[in-house]
Amino acid sequence: MQFDPRPGRTLENRTAILEALEHFQQSSDTPAHLIVLPELAFSGYLFEDREAVEAASHTYDDSFFEPLHRWCERTGTALVAGFAERSGGCFYNSALILIPGQMPGVYRKNHLYDREKLFFEPGDLGYPLFEYRGVRFGVLICFDHMFPEAARTLALSGAQLICHPSNLVLPGYAQITTTARSLENRVCWILANRWGSEEAAGLRLTYSGASRILSFDGKMLDEAPAAADALSVVEINPEACGDKRLGEGNDLFGDRRPSTYYCS
Ligand code: ACM
Repeated sequence: MQFDPRPGRTLENRTAILEALEHFQQSSDTPAHLIVLPELAFSGYLFEDREAVEAASHTYDDSFFEPLHRWCERTGTALVAGFAERSGGCFYNSALILIPGQMPGVYRKNHLYDREKLFFEPGDLGYPLFEYRGVRFGVLICFDHMFPEAARTLALSGAQLICHPSNLVLPGYAQITTTARSLENRVCWILANRWGSEEAAGLRLTYSGASRILSFDGKMLDEAPAAADALSVVEINPEACGDKRLGEGNDLFGDRRPSTYYCS
């Protein structure tokens, strides 16, 4: 789901998200089993200062998320949503993972971009795996896509799908990296980006939209416009992600040569 959150208006954004989800679920013939929202979907991205982060942040178990929880349980839909997480006096650029019948899960962005480093701590939860309806998935947040080790770590630990809430500002980069990450790991990929512009702290950022869903071999299954709301559901084939063979003679995981790689 791609949309244009209002900076700092967390309640308004939550209402807009719930209305869009409700409208989709009532009007669509294809029930969604999983929906991915953009990075920082409730707060917006560009913060003036630490106070602005504090005012728009939530703990992962905050009652603010209850209506979304109820919606997930009622419709049988899992939700991955970027949010500004407050925890023990620190802030993280996180994703909340709501899965029917399960406790809420969290992923904390490991690779912070630019001014995010002023306010957020780098992630300290590794790359957790989640499972719903027999499909194993992990989460990366926006700039994480520039670090191939992150997607590789998830794929090696068994992820069939990578959910990628984003607020992309580097034009064209993620179009290349998400295709590459998907086909080199043979994983399905959901990039949920935002669109629109924000101004704060003397800066103006424009977000590039064009959210995309990729099949296990990097093929585009659907793409949203650059600057419009969009909610699109496609069927994926996660079973295909278990087979890392490429043609007759290669296996992308079996042929790895870890002993030849320089590692930290
Ligand atoms: C980004 O990581 N939101 C550019």
